[in-house]
Amino acid sequence: MKGIILAGGTGSRLHPVTLAVCKQLLPVYDKPMVYYPLSVLMLAGIRDILLISTPRDLPVFQELLGDGGQWGIRLTYAIQPKPEGLPQAFTIGADHIGDDRVAMILGDNIFFGEGMGSMLDHVISQSSGASAFCTRVTDPQRYGVVAFGPDGKVRDLQEKPKNPLSDWALTGLYVVGSDVVERVARLRPSLRGELEMVDLLKDYLADAQLDVLKMGRGYAWFDAGTHDSLLEASEFVRTVESRQGLKVACLEEIAFSKKLIDLDQFTVLAQRAGDTAYGRYLRGLITEWRADHD
Ligand code: G1P
Repeated sequence: MKGIILAGGTGSRLHPVTLAVCKQLLPVYDKPMVYYPLSVLMLAGIRDILLISTPRDLPVFQELLGDGGQWGIRLTYAIQPKPEGLPQAFTIGADHIGDDRVAMILGDNIFFGEGMGSMLDHVISQSSGASAFCTRVTDPQRYGVVAFGPDGKVRDLQEKPKNPLSDWALTGLYVVGSDVVERVARLRPSLRGELEMVDLLKDYLADAQLDVLKMGRGYAWFDAGTHDSLLEASEFVRTVESRQGLKVACLEEIAFSKKLIDLDQFTVLAQRAGDTAYGRYLRGLITEWRADHD
């Protein structure tokens, strides 16, 4: 089971914020945006993850995330020389994918919901073909859109349609098999000059190999692609964290709870986090764990 995080693009819709700083490194409340998609893959039990970004930004991701060993995972890196569409991630990641199934997630997508990781784990282990995930939105024009037939099966897919066929937006999370590499090789660029994820999914649909799962009311999804959605995502995370006293997408906590690192390793990370709210949270988890286990 492999993972890919695509954190490329120019972030042009967030200018001037992203003129000099990569979008996926911007803060979403108390942590860098890329922590959120990475947490989804880790929660699904994926430990071998390739991060793809631009030549300019890749070194900063490497500085931030390292080789992943601190969280008990393996992180490797690859460059997307030019933003020529999301499916290109599979071509760039062909060696990484090998003969395995792979979950690809966009670096600006934030998911929240009980059981998110186990749902993804289930999809990866059960399904063949391609799986995508959709959720209801009020602004489907901004996204890939899925139309379902009366039988509940996918009828059509559109990319950023002026007249959307439904309110079901495709999220930036996709699960495919290693045949994806050949399928991408057959794709042709769209009118905007990019390979489109929707075209790749249509290729699977034509072979009756596409499953699109509806994520229900219990899930929240943000793509932090505009100024408003970036702030909304931060506000959401802040609200949940301050009400529950639990952090969203805390990679150290996930690594420890999934037993990817032991208590000693976790303690080192908690100490390194210093005198910040984040560090205090981690040390609080250790105190709680000791109280439960001693
Ligand atoms: C991409 C996909 C779109 C999907 C969206 C989710 O759009 O092309 O189908 O709904 O991600 O974040 P982009 O963010 O590149 O505009």
